[in-house]
Amino acid sequence: MADKINKILEMNNSKKVVLAPMAGITDGEFCKQFKNMFAITTLGGYNIDLTTYKAGLKIEQRGRKEFLIDLNNFNEYIVDQIKKARESNSLVSVNVRFFDIEEAYGRLEVIAKHADIVEVNCHCRQREITSLGLGQELMRDVKRLERFLEEIGSLNVPIFLKIRLNYIPIDKLIKNLDVVKDYFTGLHVDCFYPGKPYADLSSLKILSDHFKDKVIIGNNSVDSLEKALEMLKYADFVSVARAVLNGKIDWIKEFNKMF
Ligand SMILES: Cc1cc2nc3c(=O)[nH]c(=O)nc-3n(C[C@H](O)[C@H](O)[C@H](O)COP(=O)(O)O)c2cc1C
Repeated sequence: MADKINKILEMNNSKKVVLAPMAGITDGEFCKQFKNMFAITTLGGYNIDLTTYKAGLKIEQRGRKEFLIDLNNFNEYIVDQIKKARESNSLVSVNVRFFDIEEAYGRLEVIAKHADIVEVNCHCRQREITSLGLGQELMRDVKRLERFLEEIGSLNVPIFLKIRLNYIPIDKLIKNLDVVKDYFTGLHVDCFYPGKPYADLSSLKILSDHFKDKVIIGNNSVDSLEKALEMLKYADFVSVARAVLNGKIDWIKEFNKMF
């Protein structure tokens, strides 16, 4: 596991900013625009079994963007997206949701073969996903998460968990993550702070102090060099989503020169 972490830390060319996943937006074509900007670009989130595909359809019907990729063509599709994302000269991570690990496994094998990281979505709060016990519910139902990770663990690819803070109390979150800690290499942490327009850095500190041997990507509301530096006190990387949509990325070039 330490080797995998070192590989990730060494391969990122000392860049410290990650492109966070945005369903319906961050495909290969989107990622490849950002040449030499990000340490990691994240594709997805993709629905990789029939149950989550159907959930995605319902989400899209009520107006949110989704990637709805025909599951019969998913493998060719994702290989192509990863290839395009690599044109950004970053590592490539793929954010995934699935209900039936047996059904999803073949697609995970293809992702593991072509991408650098598989990122399991334990973050989504859309009710069509959470009602299946998925997304952020996976932080609560650690038995289900463990079953998933046991299977993905056999693929020999670094696994990251995309999680959201303040959905369950931090001590419970740490307790649950401890159960599965042997399976994941990194945590991609949305430092969501309910009711606040800024990140919950004190909880991020608690989490990163506990998981010192894991790669930590801090996320939420980073849109300036100052905010990125502040978050980097408690993380190996910071990630950005809405700032990219809003075109607030000029600071990243400056930021990259600092490391
Ligand atoms: C339009 C949109 C779609 C998103 N889709 C996903 C997703 O599919 N999977 C995921 O883990 N997070 C998703 N996120 C969450 C982002 O990755 C990120 O955690 C969140 O936006 C907070 O970061 P920010 O403040 O930099 O935007 C999405 C966010 C946005 C704005």
